[in-house]
Amino acid sequence: MIEQILPVTVKVFDTFTDPSDAVLFPGEAALVRGTAAGRRAEFTTARDCARRAMRRAGVAPVPILSGPCGEPLWPPGVVGSITHCAGYRAAAVSVEPGAVGIDAEPDLPLPPGVLEAVSVPREREMLLGLAARHPRTSWDRLLFSAKEAVYKAWFPLAGRWLDFQDAVIGLDAERGTFRAELLVPGPRWMGRPLTGFNGRWRTGEGLIVTAVAAPAAPPPVPPAHPPEGDPS
Ligand SMILES: CC(C)(COP(=O)(O)OP(=O)(O)OC[C@H]1O[C@@H](n2cnc3c(N)ncnc32)[C@H](O)[C@@H]1OP(=O)(O)O)[C@@H](O)C(=O)NCCC(=O)NCCS
Repeated sequence: MIEQILPVTVKVFDTFTDPSDAVLFPGEAALVRGTAAGRRAEFTTARDCARRAMRRAGVAPVPILSGPCGEPLWPPGVVGSITHCAGYRAAAVSVEPGAVGIDAEPDLPLPPGVLEAVSVPREREMLLGLAARHPRTSWDRLLFSAKEAVYKAWFPLAGRWLDFQDAVIGLDAERGTFRAELLVPGPRWMGRPLTGFNGRWRTGEGLIVTAVAAPAAPPPVPPAHPPEGDPS
């Protein structure tokens, strides 16, 4: 499902079940030892999704351990992101320089009080307008999911926390896209300060999925005419 909102350079594997043949690689089991069965199941299936996505990207299967802030540790030259929620697990992987963040949530309104904690007033105003025009979409949950996808792309680039109030999201209901403007200074990336992310979203199968994929800067455009005197 989530591949619909990612560029073709990002390889994806997702599933709506926990396959019985999914296995953990050395070192991974220790990360979830002693946790609830549900946590072990989502972790195992998502690691399996990650290795299947890696295979699609031409990357050999390896253990994917977790860093000190929970981030998945991809092999050198690989970027990626993992998400899981009730009834859905997915991983997205790319060997292109850049950043990927994906998130999936149930297509249900947020519990009371959560929206206020994860949004800024400008976003809440936007949601009121969207809800008036498209009342069947859980816009508050969609905003939350977009912010989590942004965080998952932000973290490997910046190496630090980004608060829910540190970015403001603009959702486009017609195009299924969003823009996240950073309200805090971002790291330098591709020679420029990072100021935001572009993302896409979809709903279906009882889920909301969001994705951010920041590709490398495009190669410089060659001059239309060779400079005068250029023998080529
Ligand atoms: C980390 C976080 C984004 C995970 O989202 P979630 O909806 O709770 O859970 P999901 O199932 O979608 O994603 C979990 C996966 O995120 C990944 N993840 C966790 N921490 C991460 C980090 N710092 N950077 C990148 N990815 C991370 C992991 O792969 C994790 O799965 P795993 O533990 O099985 O490996 C969320 O718990 C969180 O801490 N959010 C606060 C920060 C934030 O969202 N800021 C908004 C800025 S606008």
